[in-house]
Order: sequence, then C-alpha cells, then structure tokens
Amino acid sequence: MVDSENSITTDLRPRLHFTAPENWINDPNGLIYYGGVYHLFYQHNPKATHWGPMHWGHATTTDGLHFIHQPIALAPSQAYDADTEGGCFSGTAVEDAGLLKVVYTGSTYQDGHLRQVQCLATSADGVHFDKYDRNPVLEGQPPGCTEHFRDPKVWRHEDAWYMLLGTQIDDQGAVVLYKSAHLTDWVYIGIAAQSDGSQGSMWECPDFFSMDGKDVLMFSPIGLPDRQTTYLIGHLDYTSGAFTAEITGQVDYGLDFYAPQTLEDSAGRRVVVAWMNGWDWMPWFRGYGPVQAQGWCGCMSLPRVLTLGADKHLRFAPVETLRANRKPVLTVDPAMTRTLVPNELCSVPAPTMGTFEVVVSYAIGQGDAQEVGLRLSLADSADPVLIFAFSTTLQALQLLRVHSETDRVLRTIPYVPTDVHLTFRLVIDVSTVELFVDDGVVTMSCVLPGVVNRHAVDLYSVGGRVTVASLEVYDLA
Ligand code: FRU
Repeated sequence: MVDSENSITTDLRPRLHFTAPENWINDPNGLIYYGGVYHLFYQHNPKATHWGPMHWGHATTTDGLHFIHQPIALAPSQAYDADTEGGCFSGTAVEDAGLLKVVYTGSTYQDGHLRQVQCLATSADGVHFDKYDRNPVLEGQPPGCTEHFRDPKVWRHEDAWYMLLGTQIDDQGAVVLYKSAHLTDWVYIGIAAQSDGSQGSMWECPDFFSMDGKDVLMFSPIGLPDRQTTYLIGHLDYTSGAFTAEITGQVDYGLDFYAPQTLEDSAGRRVVVAWMNGWDWMPWFRGYGPVQAQGWCGCMSLPRVLTLGADKHLRFAPVETLRANRKPVLTVDPAMTRTLVPNELCSVPAPTMGTFEVVVSYAIGQGDAQEVGLRLSLADSADPVLIFAFSTTLQALQLLRVHSETDRVLRTIPYVPTDVHLTFRLVIDVSTVELFVDDGVVTMSCVLPGVVNRHAVDLYSVGGRVTVASLEVYDLA
C-alpha cells in the first residue's frame, strides 16, 4: 500500500512480528516445539477485526521470525465452548506419548452466568485436533474463587501433570494449582499465589517454568494501569501448591505487551512471546482505526530469550535468529564518536524498508546531560510520537507516547545504570517498536498507529552534552 502523493508506505503490517492472515488476534496460546518445528497458536476471531467468538489460530516457524499459516486448530463447537461472547479461550500445548495435546478454557454464558471450564483436545499430526469426548476435564472452581477461572498452564513434573489456572479470590487476582495423572482427571492442590491487594483484581494467563534452580511464575493482572505483566521468582511447593516469591519483576514496561507465554526451545532455552497490543485496540475502546481499516488487528512480540541476571532478575534478548538476519547499514566506531549538544537532534540514517535495528550507546558517565534518548516520528509528520529517554536527574527511564494533544502517556521507571555506558537496542518493524535497555534489563514495547518514518529516528540530549559512544544500524527487512 503506497500513498502516491508522498510515496511512503502506509501498510502498517509488521514484517517480522507475527500477524494473522486477517482479522483479530490476542494472546499467544500453546507455544511448543513439536515435530521439529515451533507451533504458535493464538486467540483469534477469524470473522472480524475486533474480539469475538474465540478460535485458536495456528502457525508454525523454525526461526521465530518467518511463519507458515496453518488451518484453524480449535473452533467453538460444543455447548461448553460455543458462545458469541466466549469460545475456545487461552491455554497450553504439551506433548504426551507422541501426541500434541492442548488444554484450553471453554468459556460460555449460561443462564446469565459466566461458565469457564477446562477442556482437552488431541492431535496426531500437530495440525488437526479432536476435542476429548468427555470434556470438560475440569468443571467448577475451588471454594472462594469466582467464576473467572481460565487460561490453563500445564507442564510435566516428575511423574505427573500440573496445571495453574488464573482466577479471582475476594476481588483479588490469584492462581491455583491442580495435579493429574492423565490430563483428564484433575485434583485441586491449593492456591499458588494471590495478590497482596496491589497486584490486580484477576490474574490472567499464568505461565510457569524453572530456570537455574529457581521457579518462575508469570501472570497478566487485570485492573492495573499500563498492563503490568508480572513475574515472580522463587519456589513452588508441589505438595501444598504454595509459591514463595523472592523477587517480583515486570516482564515489559511498554504500552503494548500482554499475556506473555513461554516455551522451551530445541536448545533448552526459555523463550517468551506476548500479544503486542492490548484491549484498548478494540475499536470501541480507543479505536486505533488505521489497522482495522486494513483488515487486521494485533501482532505478537518478537520471541525473547530469558536468562537470569546477576541481580537475580530476568533479562530479555531478542531471539538469536534476528542477529543472523540483519545486514549492517552503519557502524560508528568509538574513534569516530560525537558529542550531542543540548537540544540538537541527530538523525539516524535508516534503511528504506522500515524494518531495522538501531543500537546506540551513550557515555552517560561523562557528559553533563540531564536527559538523553531517542525520538521516533511517523511517516506523515515530524512531531515525535514516541520518546525513550534516560533522565540522569531522576535516575529513571522514561517512555512518552503522544498520539495527539489529549492522548499522551508518560511512564517513568526508576533505573540505576550499572555501567558508564547506557545502551538502547531498538527493533523497529514498520509500526512496532521494541526497546531493550542494557542487554534487556528493561524492555519496552509499543505499537504505533502509523509507519515509523525512516528519516525520523533522532538521538538527542537535554540540559547538557552527551557523547554517543557507538551507533550501529542494521537492515532487518
Ligand atoms: C487475556 C484473555 C484471557 C482469555 C482470552 C480471551 O487477554 O482475556 O484471559 O483466555 O484473553 O480471548
């Protein structure tokens, strides 16, 4: 799609971030390496560009960047999962005796009440699924939990299957743990974790894995500003069900990152993918019109590899295949570095295709700048729509998204750099932006209602000078 007057592309669809062939998507579901490929299932309304009866869309990939669309895996069809306001909700895929099995939530309204039950479906070829004829495999929630009871995360531990479900207890988010021998007979163990009163009114899409001797629990709280998808690092007691948290962190600090789910890749690494949008992309909520007008809505984040940092928090790095895919456009080595004077804008030369990576290091330990950062604007305007900054005065990272004079969002995240250099790695894919700060200590993901202008990624400093210690630009298209 090209706007002939300005000869700029107006097609908002990212190239490396997964999008459905058409229409609405939300959460990633059932991420798994099975049969020699990675499977991405996803919440999908195949009939409209907004949320509706939920299906499981399906795609496969070998590199996390290029996808092959597969037939829809699950469609609402039974009394327990067919409803115009419900459907086949989020869940997990596991391999069991060579078969691919998915556990998902059937969501319906019956007699005016929300009914969320857990269901099983099986596939021998990884593409076609049969729903278990004795579904649901779990019906009715533990005492104290409301009817919000969904998004099974299932995994194998020792000689049994375990399942976490997102729910609500006393108006607070919670996750509860179950155990089963065959995926069909679930026994309640106990409450794994519960909000302390400040962590949201319901917890959606739990995820769970172990890493370096620790257990990690992730969830997406409802009712917090700015979608603060959370992780806890600690220990799960499989007998009582209780998760003891030692560390609490946020998976991403951007404005478009929700319902993250993980898988173990073929090399044993833990990889996370999230829905890189949010509920405000529903047309009647905020209505980011341009995308829907192009017949689709929603994309997934790039897959990110998780590791544990020295500070015992999670680190996030884009999958390695991204590096293999990139072609250098510009490298400014340290001998040629330059100093930005206050309020000067230094434009980054970007490739034409609008899918590129910028890695900039600021020598924050040396200059006297009060703020350093990057500004991005859209193809049709020079005004910045997105600013990523580090304020030396506040010792904080800042994200400012300006869609219009009345639609401005500012986020401030306390941040103390541990190095004299502060590095921003930015992956820009047409209308999506993912920022990785200092090797993924902090990440911020945002989707813009336009195409990022290739002439308008600017480096800047405020209140003093800063030296750009290095700058690299890569073409990813
Ligand atoms: C999270 C969520 C899940 C639910 C699904 C429905 O975004 O609300 O809790 O299973 O979306 O599409």
